Amino acid sequence: MKKLAIFASGSGSNAQQIAQYVAGNQNIDLCMILTNNPNAGVIDRTRRGFDCGVNVPVLVFDRPTFYQTDRISQLLERQEVDLIVLAGFMWLVPPALVKAFPGQIINIHPALLPKFGGKGMYGHHVHEAVVAAGETETGITIHFVNEHYDEGAIIFQATCPVSPIDTPDDVAEKIHALEYTHYPRVVVEVLDRVPMRIPY
Ligand code: GAR
Repeated sequence: MKKLAIFASGSGSNAQQIAQYVAGNQNIDLCMILTNNPNAGVIDRTRRGFDCGVNVPVLVFDRPTFYQTDRISQLLERQEVDLIVLAGFMWLVPPALVKAFPGQIINIHPALLPKFGGKGMYGHHVHEAVVAAGETETGITIHFVNEHYDEGAIIFQATCPVSPIDTPDDVAEKIHALEYTHYPRVVVEVLDRVPMRIPY
């Protein structure tokens, strides 16, 4: 059995898609949802069992805990988490956590990296920038996480067209559709490949 933990800061619609995709899979345990945002929609979604009857604990943490202690990392290690999935998580992952989970943290970015990535490029800001730049194509990037925003090795990309009349909201809708189609499947593929964690 491989263990999955999801970090999310907002609505959590991607977290929900993943939770529903792995529900009932005997080889995968979605063991924890973590969020930095006490008002995040993902908390309600988790408490509703992601509308598929799964019971997953949700942990809310603050900035000092995340950046000045190793409590989150220790918790994930104690739980023997195999893969950490960022699904709309807006804080930079601290270097100590990256080090503790080498090749075991992945992120989804709502653009075709290296375009429209880096600090400040998240959520709706990305779609606004894509439209402002007159792009004719955008997409999603799933990548490993390192110490820098949006710079780890790319695992998968998928594209969609941007028409001249598309608003940032239109782009967001297309991106979400791409994310829901691909992220759950890629998460499971990566999870299949990560070696089992050896507990201390
Ligand atoms: C998603 O589109 C995700 O790609 C993006 O935030 C959205 C979260 O939606 N992530 C980033 O911008 C990370 N830099 P959700 O909360 O409904 O899953």
